[in-house]
Amino acid sequence: MDKTIINGFSKYNKKQRIEALIQKYGFQDDLAHWLASFENSNETIQKIIDDLSENPISTFPFPFSIAPNFVVNGKNLFFPLVSEESSVVAALGNAAGFWAKHGGFHAEVLGTEKKGQVHFIWLGNPEYLQSLFPEIRKKLLTESAFLTAKMEARGGGITGIELKSLPHVLTNYFQLDASFETCDAMGANFINSCLEQFGKSLQDYFLTSEKVSKGQRGCEIIMAILSNYTPESRVHAWVECQVSELLDGKSLQECEFFARKFEQAIRISQAEVSRAVTHNKGIFNGIDALALATGNDFRAIEACGHAFAARNGHYSGLTDVQIQNGKFLFSIELAMAAGVVGGVTAVHPLAGLAMQILDNPSAKELMMYLVVAGLASNFGAVKALVSVGIQQGHMKMHLSNIMNQLNIPDENRAEIQFYFQDRTVSFSAVEVYWKSLKRNINP
Ligand code: MEV
Repeated sequence: MDKTIINGFSKYNKKQRIEALIQKYGFQDDLAHWLASFENSNETIQKIIDDLSENPISTFPFPFSIAPNFVVNGKNLFFPLVSEESSVVAALGNAAGFWAKHGGFHAEVLGTEKKGQVHFIWLGNPEYLQSLFPEIRKKLLTESAFLTAKMEARGGGITGIELKSLPHVLTNYFQLDASFETCDAMGANFINSCLEQFGKSLQDYFLTSEKVSKGQRGCEIIMAILSNYTPESRVHAWVECQVSELLDGKSLQECEFFARKFEQAIRISQAEVSRAVTHNKGIFNGIDALALATGNDFRAIEACGHAFAARNGHYSGLTDVQIQNGKFLFSIELAMAAGVVGGVTAVHPLAGLAMQILDNPSAKELMMYLVVAGLASNFGAVKALVSVGIQQGHMKMHLSNIMNQLNIPDENRAEIQFYFQDRTVSFSAVEVYWKSLKRNINP
């Protein structure tokens, strides 16, 4: 393999990037043609997609799917979903369909505060700096007014700035810990611009104030950046029904047995980190799929959710269940920030459609839908785990992937699906059966 270090790759055009790829890896010359087959025939759309990232060589398609029957606070919606995992949409659709018949999902937003920090080093006395802080805060707010005017007109802005002294982390280390309301926007650019301006104003204060001694005029800004941890931007969502209604067509005894196992699974996820991580991964199967479809930053949403899962000092499953007096109450509380204006949501045509499918939600509504998707996904996963097991559903979808890999013609698929409905699916098992079927077809 060619070991040349490439300078200026980002200045290459698409053709040059693909040529570099062919040269390095020895791919066939028709790679460019094959990569182009994944691109959109509409040049305007393709340009929008290409402009989302640096150095594109093609577009990487994932299925854009729909899970119907999501009833949330009485509103009946289709959820648009993007996931590469075959069983995710099926699980969400099943859970949505089940809960639609039992009152739907309920959700409430418990807060929308977002946070960011300016991290800095200053060599003076923390108590003295704290005494100067009312004056400093005023300067920070005044000098960032040019950035906040528009957001304030929309009902948002800077909602607080605190000074924190944290010498146990680093000698002479301080933070400006700021809170924001960003209305329908995710607000990352707004918050980061404000924070960078705070940094400049702070340095200017130290340089110019007569209350700061000559030897302490230096202030080193380490960084100014929003925090993706937003514990005060939170959603609570839940579903409830009678235990006797939990399994369609099953006896009360079977429903009670299922409810007990479900509760045990939740308690394990709350106490055991090994289980909690997988449990929460299942929650994010749903959240990420909806976040991706709506052009939201799913990494930020996940990072926040995992930190929230550890808020009590140990990492725990995010959902809870209460079974009392014959009633089953399944719930989640999750820190979450999402936006409906700006960012990828505004430019990606399919994200735009996803927003229309969700009836153009406000940021608060989208936050609720995301958390509901997580609760639905978790319900589907835990239900399968404590009853038929996860492989049955997974393997059904996996079978279709295997049949694609083996290029099995459509007319033979039903027979293979029938054969594997009560057998263990594996690539080799499907291959062996397909070979025997082919021999029968063409003896
Ligand atoms: C698979 O993507 C997700 C599950 O493992 C989640 C869980 O175990 O709860 C099924």
